[in-house]
Amino acid sequence: MYKIAVMPGDGIGPEVVREGLKVLQAVSSVTGFEMHTETYDFGGERYLKTGETVPDSALDELRQMDAIYLGAVGHPDVAPGILEKGILLKLRFGLDQYINLRPIKLYPGVQTPLRDKGPEDIDFVVVRENTEGLYLGIGGFVKKGTQDEVAVQEMINTRKGVERCIRYAFEYTKARDRRKKLTLCDKANVLTYAHDLWRRTFAEIGEEYPDIEKDYAFVDATCMWMVKNPEWFDVIVTCNMFGDIITDLGAMVQGGMGVAAGGNINPEGISMFEPIHGSAPKYTGKNVINPMAAICSAQMMLEHLGEKEAASLVEKAIAKAFASGKMGDLSARSGISTSEVGDLVAGYIK
Ligand code: IPM
Ligand code: MN
Repeated sequence: MYKIAVMPGDGIGPEVVREGLKVLQAVSSVTGFEMHTETYDFGGERYLKTGETVPDSALDELRQMDAIYLGAVGHPDVAPGILEKGILLKLRFGLDQYINLRPIKLYPGVQTPLRDKGPEDIDFVVVRENTEGLYLGIGGFVKKGTQDEVAVQEMINTRKGVERCIRYAFEYTKARDRRKKLTLCDKANVLTYAHDLWRRTFAEIGEEYPDIEKDYAFVDATCMWMVKNPEWFDVIVTCNMFGDIITDLGAMVQGGMGVAAGGNINPEGISMFEPIHGSAPKYTGKNVINPMAAICSAQMMLEHLGEKEAASLVEKAIAKAFASGKMGDLSARSGISTSEVGDLVAGYIK
């Protein structure tokens, strides 16, 4: 019996999560695993009512769960940074989810804006460091609001944090068993301290993986190659900030925010799965947003829980749904409703 914490969140979050749960129910009735869900109302609405984001007591409770399934947080009436730091980053840091795993896979039937590239060319995974770098929020202002203002925000790279991320990436590349190539994406030519640490650690850990091809790409060049030759990539490992940026590019390459899913992984603890897209407030309650990204993140959750058969059934159903041609361009104007997409995928499972 899995205990899943469900956090629907704001905007269209509850609608896409509902469809993800529908698919999970469908597959559980086929393969027989059992799931108990506990719903948490963290998000902009709750913050506006109570001033609370995620209380510390909730973190202790969440540590008793098997996984977290999150929709989206983001509210037009809440200033930028509050919900991001108070909910998303608090969960990632508080639960030490040190990997952000983001597959970039083009399914047959999905349109990519890359001319002449198809599903055989676009199938790689970004392993993003998820607890350090520029995201820790260490820094401050001096003479704020004056002409002499100074703003400093420090980029934290610890040997331990870098090493565990790189080790995870090597293990992931080995297990994935595709091209067995791991690319370190950095800016070692400019960040000559921070990314020197990444390079040295990568080289050292890499010695333990003689069968894996090692490759290096600066982050700017990575953006270029992702568009020009995405087939060169198998697994990319990178720091928090660069991973954030290149995975939005990756989401476009794989067909848009409607398909991009991610997992915030603590290999020794509790992990959290979420679509990469935001809360799209203007579409709230309209049943028009395509929930495939949330369904894909539910699929990642099954894989993470070790439910191999269920994960594979959902993956096949996702592929069938994309290939069916019934979802148009995956946008809010595609003509298919949020719940119809959930029904379609659930239907392919049964
Ligand atoms: C993401 C998001 C978050 C991030 C924001 C909302 C804090 O952009 O999950 O990629 O920067 O990590
Ligand atoms: Mn992002």
